[in-house]
Order: sequence, then structure tokens, then C-alpha cells
Amino acid sequence: MIKIIVIEDERIKRITMSQALKKANYHVNDFGNPVVALKYFKNNGADLVISDIRMEDLDGFEVLEKVKQINSATDVILMTAFGTIESAVNAMKKGAYDFITKPFSSEELILLVQKYEKLKNLLDENILLKKILEDRYSFHNLIGKSKVMIDLFDQIEMVSSSEMSVLIEGESGTGKEVVANAIHYNSDRKEKPFIKLSCAALNESLLESELFGHEKGAFTGAYKEKQGRFEVADGGTLFLDDIDDIPLSSQVKLLRVLQEREFERVGATKPTKVNVRIICATKVDLWELVEKKQFREDLFYRLRVIPIRIPPLRERKEDIPLLVEHFLIKSKKEKLHFTPEALELLTCYNWPGNIRQLENAVYRISAFTKTNEVTRDMIPEDLICGKEQPIKFSIYNNDKIDLQKFIEKIEKETIEWALARTDHNQSKAAEILKLKRTTLRDKMKKFDVH
Ligand SMILES: Nc1ncnc2c1ncn2[C@@H]1O[C@H](COP(=O)(O)OP(=O)(O)OP(=O)(O)O)[C@@H](O)[C@H]1O
Ligand SMILES: [Mg+2]
Repeated sequence: MIKIIVIEDERIKRITMSQALKKANYHVNDFGNPVVALKYFKNNGADLVISDIRMEDLDGFEVLEKVKQINSATDVILMTAFGTIESAVNAMKKGAYDFITKPFSSEELILLVQKYEKLKNLLDENILLKKILEDRYSFHNLIGKSKVMIDLFDQIEMVSSSEMSVLIEGESGTGKEVVANAIHYNSDRKEKPFIKLSCAALNESLLESELFGHEKGAFTGAYKEKQGRFEVADGGTLFLDDIDDIPLSSQVKLLRVLQEREFERVGATKPTKVNVRIICATKVDLWELVEKKQFREDLFYRLRVIPIRIPPLRERKEDIPLLVEHFLIKSKKEKLHFTPEALELLTCYNWPGNIRQLENAVYRISAFTKTNEVTRDMIPEDLICGKEQPIKFSIYNNDKIDLQKFIEKIEKETIEWALARTDHNQSKAAEILKLKRTTLRDKMKKFDVH
């Protein structure tokens, strides 16, 4: 309930105002003397002070100044006499919330206070939301208030202090890298390096030289000796992204480091000892690869000592409004807000690209918004659930069909669809098409798709 202090030296007016406000369910204290009122305010506080301007001991402007000194969050409405527009302007300049011109009816006063209450609630909600984002629902750059995310924060907290290997499993864009970061920076190793290597698209020899380093002259082109990521990460954490992409032959070598904590640089004869904690991430089900004999079972168990699964965004849609707010703040567009209807629409959509897709969508929408509000009709068509454009091909009006050409047309359009859906991220597009990245690239070249 809003707490109001009324300061008015004319007794009848004061009592009328006070009674009207109490009747409208506000908590009111009224005073005839501004000095006494300020003393009360200092000890008890208030949300709103409504004060007369012309009074004996202290005028309304002084009251305004003192109130703001005591608590700048308290608002002041000044009562000005009819015809003194100048003092009204003055009041606003000095930081009054509003003014009301005498004489006024009780209804007018209540309306003004109700308007104030509405605004205050909105502001409070906004501040609360931002505060929530800052503390309760955020954990090392991870935002979420759904049960699964709160559980995930707990899990990260617990595993951080351990030395065991972690396997992070999650679809593209779910936050695997952010989680790996959170584990490292929440652990005792946080002062030591956090080193990342993506195993995707690295052939065996490149991968091994990246992981273990090499001696000078180990192979053609090895002009200088080079430290591998294992050495650089010594004492800290090594994050191996897309671990499912690591060739079978390199898997043996990785297994050995995990077992013996030592390895040889390419071309070296002596082993190097390291103390590194391993965190891996995968988009695909590693066990399926084990079954297909594409991933070693012993390595699988070594890496998956602690599994952490990040749920896709569609399984925690209640986080969407919070995430939207977070990305608006992140891109310095905190003044912008999405209407509840617009948010509802975003919550209906399934987000195959998960948080990354949501993040890009928020940036894209806010870049094109000229007002302070994003309404339902400003949400792009491709994000409206059930409205994704079906790819249609008609064969009814043809007598003959060149099957090869027809299939190529479907291929081309499907590739264009995948690229549009992933903001032209080729590796993501390849993933949703279940193609190798190189195959996708070849096809794009063939069909002249950019
Ligand atoms: N819970 C979260 N709260 C806030 N931002 C998040 C959250 N999860 C992910 N993000 C943001 O989403 C984007 C994608 O996250 P990240 O790169 O960690 O995903 P990923 O799972 O590693 O994706 P990929 O599989 O494509 O490598 C980043 O910009 C990241 O900051
Ligand atoms: Mg990643």
C-alpha cells in the first residue's frame, strides 16, 4: 500500500483530503506544520508527499528539497494556487512528480494519486525484474528461473569444486560454452587458464598438434616448437568443444592423457606432465556414436564422469521473458520493452536454435524498432509458431518431370530454408540438415546459394 503524507495548513482542507485518500484505501498521515511533517517523514518514510506551497514556517519548495535530501526515491506533489503557473513549472523543474491546482475536488486528487500509483508499480516491477536478473536468476552469465535452470545452477556449483571430467550435453545454442565457463570460474582453478579447443573440422594431425603441441622439425612446416593446449592449460581447465568430432585415432591419445596425466608433443621422445581438468561438450548423443563404433567406449566413460544436460529452450519456455529482458539490457536497449502479447508469441515458438536464436531475434527486432515498445505485429513471420513457410512444389501442371532437376530444386530450397533459419550459420545449417559442413558447402557452391 502506498504511504502518503499530506501537508496543508488549512485544517478543513487538510481533513477533507486526508479522509478522501483514506477512503480510497491509502495509508495517510496529515500535518498542519511542515517542520513536524518532515520530522515524521525522516523517522517513518513515505512513498508520496503532497504539500501546499504557501505555508508559514517552510514553503512547499523547501519541503520538496528536504524530502529529496532525506530520500530521493520519495515523490512530491505540490498544491499550487490558481493562476500561478510559474510556481507549477518551478515545482516540476525542482524535481516534483506533479502539481495540482487549487481548488480541486477529492476525485481529482484521487485520480492523480492513482495515476502515480500505477506508474510507481510499473517502475517497481522494472527495478525488481532487473534486480532479479542481477542476483537470483543469474549465475555466471547464465540466466534462468525455471526449475531445470535453478537445478543446473546447483549442479554447476557442486561440480565446480571437484576435479572430475564433465561432459556437457545440449543442442546447438543452449549455452554449453557458458556453462563450461561457469564451472571453471566457479572452481579453485579460476586464477589459472581456461583454454578452449573446438574439435570440429580439425583433421587428425592438426588436432594432435593443437592438443599436444610439437617439437621443431616434427613435420614439414614445423619451423618452431609449439606448446599444445594441454600445456597452456596447465593448472587450469581445458574445454574440448564438439568432442564427438574427434577422430578415432586421436581418441586413444586423449585417453592416455586422461589416464596418465602425461603426453608427448608431436615429434618428442620425452613425456610432458600436466595437471588439467577436462570439460567436454557435445551436441549429439555420444552413446549413439559408441554403439556405431565411432567413439571409444573407454573414453566415453572417462569423459562422462559427471554428465550435465542443458535442456533445450522449448523445455523451459518460462525463461523466455527473462531472457528477452536480459538481452535488451545486454544490448543497451533497456528502455525498450516487449508487450505481453509479443512475449506470448515468442513463448509459443519452439526455438530450434535455442538461446542463440532468441538472442539474435531480440537484437534483430530491437534494431528495427523506432518506438519504445515491441508489439505483437512487430514479431517477424518466421518466429510465429505454426507459421513457418512450408516448402511447396507443384507437379500437377506438368506432363513431364525431370526428376534430377526436380530433386535439385528441392535440395536448393531446403538449403536456403536451413540457412535462413540459422542466420546463415553454415555449421548450424549443416547440423539441422544432417549434413557434413563440407557437403553443405559443396552443395551451396553447386546451387549458387550464398
Ligand atoms: N542461460 C543463458 N542465459 C543467458 N545467455 C545465454 C544462456 N545460455 C546461452 N546464452 C547465450 O546464448 C549464446 C549461445 O551460447 P553458447 O555459445 O554457450 O551455446 P552452445 O551450446 O555452446 O552453442 P553451440 O552448440 O552452437 O556451440 C551466447 O551468446 C550465450 O551468451
Ligand atoms: Mg559452443
